[in-house]
Amino acid sequence: MGRPPASGLRPPTAGLRPARSGELAKLRARLAEVEETLRAIRSGEVDSLMVAGKAVSQMFTLQGAEHAYRVLIESMNEGALTLTADKMILYANHCFARMVKRPLEQVIGSSFRRFLSAADRAAFRLLLKRADKSGSKTQVLLHASDGSKMPAQISIRPLAKNGFNDAIICLVVTDMTEARRTEERLRALTHRVVEVQEAERERVALELHDNITQHLCAVLARWAALANKLPAREKASRGEVMKLSQMLGHTVEEAQRIARNLRPSVLDQLGLLPALRATCTEFTKRTGVSLKLACKPLTARLHAEGELALYRILQNALENVEKHARARHVTVSLRQRTFVQLTIHDDGIGFDPEHHAARRKGKGSLGLLSMRERATYVGGDFKIISVRGGGTKIEVLIPLPPVQLKMKRPGRKNL
Ligand SMILES: Nc1ncnc2c1ncn2[C@@H]1O[C@H](COP(=O)(O)OP(=O)(O)OP(=O)(O)O)[C@@H](O)[C@H]1O
Ligand SMILES: [Mg+2]
Repeated sequence: MGRPPASGLRPPTAGLRPARSGELAKLRARLAEVEETLRAIRSGEVDSLMVAGKAVSQMFTLQGAEHAYRVLIESMNEGALTLTADKMILYANHCFARMVKRPLEQVIGSSFRRFLSAADRAAFRLLLKRADKSGSKTQVLLHASDGSKMPAQISIRPLAKNGFNDAIICLVVTDMTEARRTEERLRALTHRVVEVQEAERERVALELHDNITQHLCAVLARWAALANKLPAREKASRGEVMKLSQMLGHTVEEAQRIARNLRPSVLDQLGLLPALRATCTEFTKRTGVSLKLACKPLTARLHAEGELALYRILQNALENVEKHARARHVTVSLRQRTFVQLTIHDDGIGFDPEHHAARRKGKGSLGLLSMRERATYVGGDFKIISVRGGGTKIEVLIPLPPVQLKMKRPGRKNL
């Protein structure tokens, strides 16, 4: 055995059997590790700990870190909740309590369903079913304690079962009142644009009819009289005059066609089907694109606003086919069920409607926007199905029987 060290203290492992000294070294290493962990927690370098067990591991969140998240969630301008699998509220922030106008103590522990209508409960159930890891959204009306209802968007994200808790559902509830108001203002504005467009068309049509077409007709009559006065021997001049009067005749026809298209007087005179037929015939004549019109006679007449909407939508859609589609064939169909369905299908180059909607701002494209507005204003539905290279299909549904609406049909002075 050697001499003890000068200090009088023996090193901790000195004199121990090798097995014992190994054990002690291990314990000292673990102690150092624990001391290092405590130091990291104290200095805020760590906000949660994972403790490995035999069967499962447990995650412990440290109070300091949780506090920061709580402050964040409480200062949010959106409702934040966690629900159990059977939709009981485990946690809600103050913002959500304010939305439903209840004290937070009454909110926590109650069922989330109490804040939804029966229809929204069903929608919420469906949303939970289809919500995957990426979450999903739905729009509901949130019922407050004073009976008021607030439009809200619910974003949902289920957390997977982690061995301790049942599945937990995280919700973020966003107040959509302002967004709805903006949407309504925008719709009113679009509707106003359609109304102004209709009035402007009316004005231009009258100008065209009362001035241009009338004058052209007078010139044509004089021109024909002049042609008749030319001596028979002036063959070349007579031929030229005849050609010119033919050209004038075409110009009058074209001016009348434009005026007719600007004013829907054909709807008043003939009804929807003949008006649609005339539009289709004119389209083929002008563009050379073949068009098949498949119509079943309607047993009920739509209200004037519904007819005007369908007529204008067909005009707009065919205008787009002519301008953009490079189509070889178009099919137009009109059917009646509990609603009237108009479909315009072209085999042209197609486009991406979502992409177009996103880029529409500032470009001044009004066609699709006003088509949708015309359909929705009369309680109908408007759908565009289009893919690049795969043609475009526009489907409009207008319900029967008529709904009472304020939009005025332009004057009925016939052209
Ligand atoms: N049938 C179609 N085939 C291919 N592209 C189309 C078709 N209809 C619309 N589009 C595309 O969608 C865009 C928007 O159409 P929209 O009718 O709203 O505006 P526009 O025709 O460009 O202008 P406006 O109708 O206001 O004169 C078009 O610019 C075109 O790119
Ligand atoms: Mg257009």
